[in-house]
Amino acid sequence: MTDTPTQADAPATAPEDTVTLTDNATGRTYTLPVLHGTTGPRVIDIRKLYAETGMFTYDPGFTSTGSCESKITYIDGDKGILLHRGFPIEELAEHGDFMEVAYLLLNGELPSRNEKYDFEQIMTRHSMVHEQLTFFYRGFRRDAHPMAILCGITGALSAFYGDSLDINDPQQRMIASHRLISKMPTIAAMAYKYSCGQPFVYPRNDLRYAENFLHMMFAVPTEPYRVNQVLARAMDRIFILHADHEQNASTSSVRLSGSTGANPFACIAAGIASLWGPAHGGANEAVLQMLEQIGRKERIPEFIKRAKDKNDPFRLMGFGHRVYKNHDPRAQVLRRTCHEVLGELGIRHEPLLDIAIELERIALEDEFFVDRKLYPNVDFYSGIILRAMGFPTSMFTVLFALARTVGWISQWKEMIEDRDQRIGRPRQLYTGPTSRHYVPLSMRG
Ligand code: CMC
Repeated sequence: MTDTPTQADAPATAPEDTVTLTDNATGRTYTLPVLHGTTGPRVIDIRKLYAETGMFTYDPGFTSTGSCESKITYIDGDKGILLHRGFPIEELAEHGDFMEVAYLLLNGELPSRNEKYDFEQIMTRHSMVHEQLTFFYRGFRRDAHPMAILCGITGALSAFYGDSLDINDPQQRMIASHRLISKMPTIAAMAYKYSCGQPFVYPRNDLRYAENFLHMMFAVPTEPYRVNQVLARAMDRIFILHADHEQNASTSSVRLSGSTGANPFACIAAGIASLWGPAHGGANEAVLQMLEQIGRKERIPEFIKRAKDKNDPFRLMGFGHRVYKNHDPRAQVLRRTCHEVLGELGIRHEPLLDIAIELERIALEDEFFVDRKLYPNVDFYSGIILRAMGFPTSMFTVLFALARTVGWISQWKEMIEDRDQRIGRPRQLYTGPTSRHYVPLSMRG
């Protein structure tokens, strides 16, 4: 055992900035380096902890664990701040568009005019999928959940694009990233078309990213489809707001899968599977189901009571966040977008929105929610907007996955390019039986 400071080869650490750990069982002390990011909490470097102390750390849910170094997204949950490459999400959503944000996340800077043009050209030209892929859809039941289809088809892309699977080739990594971002709207819209028995609609090169997606979703061969610009803008904004969110469950799934050297299409399929859960991306679908279940404003207190009851598994969907303990800045942008979309569609009275607003008001005044810092999150309003735009509830999480593909692939790329990258392999606190001997079946009674 050593009492000397551990030597970390990690970023920005000052020799004098350390923490000392005392093992009360042995009386030994250990000095651990402290790392500094450009902003945010200081980070104790425990990489050599086990080698030097023989101890693991215990952190189920990773509430205090940084799993990687990243330059992509920063969140200050106490202040309600979300920055992509330093830019506040509100500014990106207000003034930027999704293609700019995708370029930013992937490359680190906002594109110049020419770079943006070229990027959009690439995105447009990769949007078709291999025709053979359409037969995969036919293997699914018509009532299959579109997330099941999205997960399967995305994983299957690795069987179609063998020329972009070499993760050690930067050019192939970039091609795979572009393919995933540009094909995801096509794959998602095809999942929807398949579920309602309509013919697949091919992408159009004259439409922008969000417009093209709406076209592939809602056009039918029998009549022209004109994309409503207010709805296209709202769609684009929803994509921006969902583009990345630091090391959440699905992004961590992508990074963990990627750390094994798995190909990018397989890694994104892992992210989609993780996003599907109701505590994560599945919450937007669950919000609408909850609002429908509540049905009318008079029943809200009953549901608030249930959400507070420890013996009832019911939770207010669209409320609370692991990181945001003040407000979710994405929810505030979406609240405004929600009113814009309903106004454009001439929906003056949307019962579910009325219930949502009243639910928000009551919950924000309730001691239980205030004490636990439970605020509406991004999913609280997105469902109402998407429903008004004509999306079935089952497509909500698919849209989240579509947008988040940009963040996942940017994080995956960053991880592969990180020289400190190793296979992700957490340890555990074992509480099972200690070593014992096998008892033959005849002697087990
Ligand atoms: N309704 C009622 N009580 C809640 C809720 C809720 N939505 N969320 C948290 N709580 C309570 C929880 O019961 C606990 O109370 P206590 O301290 O008395 O035991 C306390 O608040 C802390 O909850 P937690 O489960 O320890 O918090 P967490 O950080 O592990 O969970 C969460 C975060 C998002 C999973 C959770 O708030 C939740 O289940 N929310 C509803 C699902 C949801 O809207 N998810 C979308 C998240 S945003 C989109 C995304 O990033 O995917």
